[in-house]
Amino acid sequence: MITASEAGLAGVVAGKTGISTVGKKGFGLTYRGYSIEDLSEHASFEEVAWLLLHGELPMYEQLVAFSEELQSRRSLPDRLKQVLEILPRTAHPMDVLRTGCSMLGCIEPEESPEQQYEIAMRLLASFPSMLCYWHHYHQSGDRIDVETDDDNLAGHFLHLLHGKPAAEHLCRALDVALILYAEHEYNASTFAARITASTMSDLYSAITTGIGTLRGPLHGGANEASMELVEAFVNADAAEQGVMNQLAAKKKIMGFGHRVYKKFDPRSDVIKRWSQTLCEETALTPLYEISERIEAVMRREKGLFPNLDFYAATVFHCLGIPTSMFTPLFVFSRTAGWSAHVFEQRGNNRLIRPAAEYNGPGPRVFVPINERA
Ligand SMILES: CC(C)(COP(=O)(O)OP(=O)(O)OC[C@H]1O[C@@H](n2cnc3c(N)ncnc32)[C@H](O)[C@@H]1OP(=O)(O)O)[C@@H](O)C(=O)NCCC(=O)NCCS
Repeated sequence: MITASEAGLAGVVAGKTGISTVGKKGFGLTYRGYSIEDLSEHASFEEVAWLLLHGELPMYEQLVAFSEELQSRRSLPDRLKQVLEILPRTAHPMDVLRTGCSMLGCIEPEESPEQQYEIAMRLLASFPSMLCYWHHYHQSGDRIDVETDDDNLAGHFLHLLHGKPAAEHLCRALDVALILYAEHEYNASTFAARITASTMSDLYSAITTGIGTLRGPLHGGANEASMELVEAFVNADAAEQGVMNQLAAKKKIMGFGHRVYKKFDPRSDVIKRWSQTLCEETALTPLYEISERIEAVMRREKGLFPNLDFYAATVFHCLGIPTSMFTPLFVFSRTAGWSAHVFEQRGNNRLIRPAAEYNGPGPRVFVPINERA
C-alpha cells in the first residue's frame, strides 16, 4: 500500500549512483565526492563537466584539451539551422532545445555506445548555438555566426546572446550558476533520462527525455516562474502582501521548498551572493530587496527556504538574459549530469521497470459493442 508520504516515490531509493550526493549526512551536496562549496569557489564549469563525465578532476592539459574540443564543436549543420528557422518565433526556448537535440540526433546519430562521450561534448557545445541562432533569426532575421573565440560556455553564450564579449565577472557569475545546476542525483529529469537509457536507447533520446522533464515549473521551470513572481512587485512591502495573499489562496511560491532538502539548499547561499552583487551593480537593488523579503515571509509563514532557482533568477536577469531562456541555461549545464548518468546506467544496465499498485475495477465480463446498454 502506497502511503501519502511515498507518493511521487518520495524517499524511495530507486538505484545506485557514484556521481553525486544530495543532502547525505556527512557529505551534503557533492559531485564525485567534491563539495559544491569548493567546486563553485575554485573550479570552472568545464572542469566540473569533465569531473562528472570522467569521475576525476582533470589535469591542466586535459582541461585545456577538453575546452578546445568543446570550442571546436559549436557549429550547427545547415539542416539543423533550417529546422530552427521554421520553428515558430513564439515557441518556448525549451521546446527549441528539445527539437534541436532530436534533430541533431537525426543528422549525427549515435551508431554505437563508443560515441557517447563525443556526443555528450557535441551537445554541451552546441546547445547555446541552437538557442541563440533561433533567437536572433526570429528577433531580427539575422543568421548569426555561432562560433566565438570564448574559451568557456558561459562567455560563449553571453557573447552570442548580446553580440559582444561579456565582462569577466559576468561570465564568472554565469559559470558559477552552471556549476550549481550541473548535477543533482536522481532528480526527475535525470531519472527520466536513465529510464530512457535503460531501454538501450540512444544518448540523444535520453537527453531529449531530460529536457522534456525539466521543462515543468515543479522542476527546472521554477527559475522562470521565480522571476515572474519577483518582477510582479514594485517594492518589498508589496511583495510581502502579494505573497501572503498567494499563500492564503493555497498557491505554491515557485523557487521555494525541495523534495530532498528539508532545512536549506546549499546552492542557494552561493547564488544569493551573486544575486546581491549583480543587483547592486546593475542598480536593480529593488529586485534583491523584494527577493529577500519573499524569502523572509516564506521562512516565517511556511518554514520554507529558497532553492537554487529563486536567486538564480535575478542573477540571470541582471546578465540581460530573457526570462524564457532561464530553464534552457539549466539544460546547458545539466547535460553534463544527464550524460554522466546515462554512462553510469549503461555501465551496469538493467531495464528500469517498476511495478504499480492496482486500484482499478475488479475483473469484468466483456460485453460486445452491439450489446452494450
Ligand atoms: C519542490 C517541490 C515540488 C517538492 O515537493 P514535495 O516534496 O512533493 O512537497 P509537497 O509539494 O507535497 O509540499 C509539502 C507541503 O509544503 C507546501 N509547499 C511546498 N513547497 C511549497 C511552496 N513552494 N510554496 C508553498 N507551499 C509549499 C505544500 O503546499 C505542502 O503543504 P501541505 O502539506 O499543507 O499540503 C515543492 O516544494 C514545490 O512545488 N516547490 C515550488 C517549485 C520549485 O521551486 N521547484 C524547484 C525545485 S528545485
